[in-house]
Amino acid sequence: MTAKVIDGKAFAANVRAQVAAHVAKLKETHNIQPGLAVVLVGEDPASQVYVRNKHASTIEVGMASFEHRLPVDTSEADLLALVKSLNADPKVHGILVQLPLPAHLNSELIINTIDPAKDVDGFHISNVGLLGTGQKSMVPCTPLGCLMMLRDHHGKLAGLNAVVVGRSNIVGKPMAQLLLGDSCTVTIAHSRTKDLAAVCRGADILVAAVGRPEMLTGDYVKPGATVIDVGINRIERDGKAKLVGDVHYESAAAVAGAITPVPGGVGPMTIACLLANALTACCRANGLPEPEGLTA
Ligand code: GUN
Repeated sequence: MTAKVIDGKAFAANVRAQVAAHVAKLKETHNIQPGLAVVLVGEDPASQVYVRNKHASTIEVGMASFEHRLPVDTSEADLLALVKSLNADPKVHGILVQLPLPAHLNSELIINTIDPAKDVDGFHISNVGLLGTGQKSMVPCTPLGCLMMLRDHHGKLAGLNAVVVGRSNIVGKPMAQLLLGDSCTVTIAHSRTKDLAAVCRGADILVAAVGRPEMLTGDYVKPGATVIDVGINRIERDGKAKLVGDVHYESAAAVAGAITPVPGGVGPMTIACLLANALTACCRANGLPEPEGLTA
């Protein structure tokens, strides 16, 4: 079998177009413009690239983008004061504090100071609890993007066996909660799981989020399974820099029914879902119906 390639780039472009259409309608019917604030502390090169892309995408869908770049030695008190001022600003519907923060700052305290209704990353402890108990919440962007692609490919997910490899708070755990919410039978596996390959071979849906380049080969994949590769690993091969996932693409694609490539799979969905979350937050803040198909 050769797997169908799930085109995350095209899927993300479609999500952004849907967001842009909703944003235009909000402006036209209610004179409301969703606003997204991004806070970057320090000059980490990867974070700077992310923030630049977020800013450009936010503008492109017609939202207001508020960028706050702070020096690396910003005090915790100053950062908390900025977060509180964004919480109070009615033009700001979504707040994202770029991680990782410099070591002298308490990330948990900063994230938990964001108004949960504006927490477009879904990292606030209230949103984690709401998702875990099946209540309406803000959902972390990458797992939300994976869920959208899975729903699109499968239709209903109920009854499918899902294995999530990786137990991070940002991807693995919320991914498992979302799949459970769609009535999958969910296993969370990780690098210490015994006979990981056998566990993975039980999966109709296999989500790889371990952060180890090309760890899951075709031996880990059930014939016909859907493989979602969340990994983004920079490696060097034949003297060249290369981006690879947590899945060994060639061997897995020979067995799977469908697979996301790296790059061009899950990656582009993260920013698209961030914009979807900012739109959702804006609709909720204004007592308007949520955009259909763009939430969990
Ligand atoms: N750093 C890398 N990805 C992300 C993300 O999705 N959200 C935040 N807040 N920081 C990040």
